[in-house]
Amino acid sequence: MGHYTPDLSRPEANHASLYRDPAIFDEEMEKIFHATWVYVGHGSEVPNPGDYKTSFIGQVPVIMSRDMAGKIHVFANRCTHRGATVCPRELGHAESFTCPYHAWTYRLDGSLEAVGLPRGYNDGELDYSGLGLPVAPRVGSYRGFVFASLNADVHDFDTHIGPAKKYIDYYCDLSPTGEITVGLTGIYKHRYRGNWKAQLEGSVEGYHVWHNHRTAIDIMSKWVPIMKQYQNLPMKAYDLGFGHNIIENYTLTDEQVHERWPAEFVELLISAHGRERAMDALRHRFNIVLFPNMAILEYHVRVIRPLAADRTEVRQYHTSMVGAPAAINQRRVREHEFFYGPGGAGGPDDLATFDRIQQGMEAWTAPWVLFNRGLKSEETTPGGLRFGHHTQETQQRAPYYEYRRLMEGKAPVPSRIRLAAAG
Ligand code: FES
Ligand SMILES: [Fe+2]
Repeated sequence: MGHYTPDLSRPEANHASLYRDPAIFDEEMEKIFHATWVYVGHGSEVPNPGDYKTSFIGQVPVIMSRDMAGKIHVFANRCTHRGATVCPRELGHAESFTCPYHAWTYRLDGSLEAVGLPRGYNDGELDYSGLGLPVAPRVGSYRGFVFASLNADVHDFDTHIGPAKKYIDYYCDLSPTGEITVGLTGIYKHRYRGNWKAQLEGSVEGYHVWHNHRTAIDIMSKWVPIMKQYQNLPMKAYDLGFGHNIIENYTLTDEQVHERWPAEFVELLISAHGRERAMDALRHRFNIVLFPNMAILEYHVRVIRPLAADRTEVRQYHTSMVGAPAAINQRRVREHEFFYGPGGAGGPDDLATFDRIQQGMEAWTAPWVLFNRGLKSEETTPGGLRFGHHTQETQQRAPYYEYRRLMEGKAPVPSRIRLAAAG
């Protein structure tokens, strides 16, 4: 076991210890997951006052709740008395959270409301105002996607999400109301033997598609004929900064939009958003990773939960377009299942590959993981974003610029997690 050192990660390669060393994993939890913005959930999962969702920031269990005024709070799912989690369920509705051990009860904003057998405390032994559930000091959201940070000094959320907004807009504008639901039409969870960072690389992987998903591509070409040319399409992949990356899967012409989507749906979107915005949403298909734990793919939001250096949980939350015809949403379910489902033509191949990657990482004789494809031809947009062809590796290099910045302590990193008591 070692520690992270700058010679372990360069733009063109990572050392295998980044994928297998438990000490480096612990360092990543503190310097990345406890230091930057982390996705916790979507507003549609907690639509009403009293609704909550439990999640994780790194390995810290958290609750995202909506209070009676409609405001979303994020706090640690950890009783301030002696540490039990106060909420065991993933999703639900509550008036308050009561710890099962000694009945300390917390309001929807995390503040402490009552304790069991209060007369056993003498004057001065119980400070209600300082014993609320520890609150994440920063919460930000964009189009319903809620992010929180355990670091009060983290950079501003708007800057963090900035270049990704355009793509999140394309995604949500496929809904005539601009609203989507996340996970209400199904969640698929799986674990694999492999490192969490394989998801940052694999969720935007254009190089493998032609080989690893050849059968799926042949079938998908029936509903998107240009997929037959996947490896030759003039599509790009971008480094969006702060570790975020995006791969364009395909972009449709107006004519292809009409082949892909029923005319009534196209017209519905145009009347809702105007032609330009509607056509943008219909044209662009992409996968985007929001560092360090979330990705949006064509039909689902993917949440990456690191469990150990060689163990990761992935949750795929299927998305639905609020106000779209039932047949459109139904089709999105079927297409999702076709590729990503447990018996799908794509996802299981990826899982098998992640397993093989981790097995291969044990080969100490060849310790480097390469990302140099297209490095020499990489270009930069006028706005300063790196980009290359979607079958090159700009998007795999992207997370590691931010990874190195955080791991090398070039960003405000709290020496301990700073959580404020709700009260
Ligand atoms: S541990 Fe929660 S009330 Fe005692
Ligand atoms: Fe894949």
